[in-house]
Amino acid sequence: MKRIFIATSNQGKLRDFGGAAAGYDVEVAALPELLSLPAVGEDGDTFEANARKKAETYSRYAPGEIVLSDDSGLEVDALNGAPGVHSARYAAEAPHLVHNNTEDEANNARLIRELRNVPPGRRSGRFVCVIAAARDGRTLAVFEGKAEGAILEVPRGVNGFGYDPLFFFPQIQKTFAELTAEEKASYSHRGAAFRQFLQWISASPVRDQTIGT
Ligand code: IMP
Repeated sequence: MKRIFIATSNQGKLRDFGGAAAGYDVEVAALPELLSLPAVGEDGDTFEANARKKAETYSRYAPGEIVLSDDSGLEVDALNGAPGVHSARYAAEAPHLVHNNTEDEANNARLIRELRNVPPGRRSGRFVCVIAAARDGRTLAVFEGKAEGAILEVPRGVNGFGYDPLFFFPQIQKTFAELTAEEKASYSHRGAAFRQFLQWISASPVRDQTIGT
């Protein structure tokens, strides 16, 4: 079985990657010692810029290995694409607006508030995920996945993370928080990007020398 390192400490993302890898001959693992490494500032204007920066930086700590990094977020049309690359820190950027226990709860509370006057037919949005694959400080390939949906007024479901309870996926009439990790992976932006990576790695001549067991 091939092992693939993901440079993230986000348990929700790791769970998603585990779901996306199910049924393939790969094992996904958090990059060892990630929490003790210096944090990488996500100051890029695009998901791709941030994903490349994280993958290139962290791959230097695992010489010879392919290291994946995911930068992702939610784009809401009625908010001109916000929160976008600011998705993780949406509430932190407006601390006077929301007071909730967890970062995810606070982000969701701000999103509900920003959309409070937007009617159901105009609440479209999408999750975007860009995965960068890097080795020894150099990006080898970039993959993008999207999932189109609508933002609910009230959260639904207890699975997933982040904005999942507010993200309604019309095709199955459920939010992403109402899905198992494997179900979410089959519809999600992260699953779509990761499947492109799997196709690339299985066709790539770098595969055997870079991914060990
Ligand atoms: P970053 O990629 O670490 O900058 O953070 C992405 C942020 O976007 C997360 O903290 C979530 O708030 C949001 N996000 C990205 N992907 C998902 C998802 O699959 N479900 C719910 N929220 C997500």
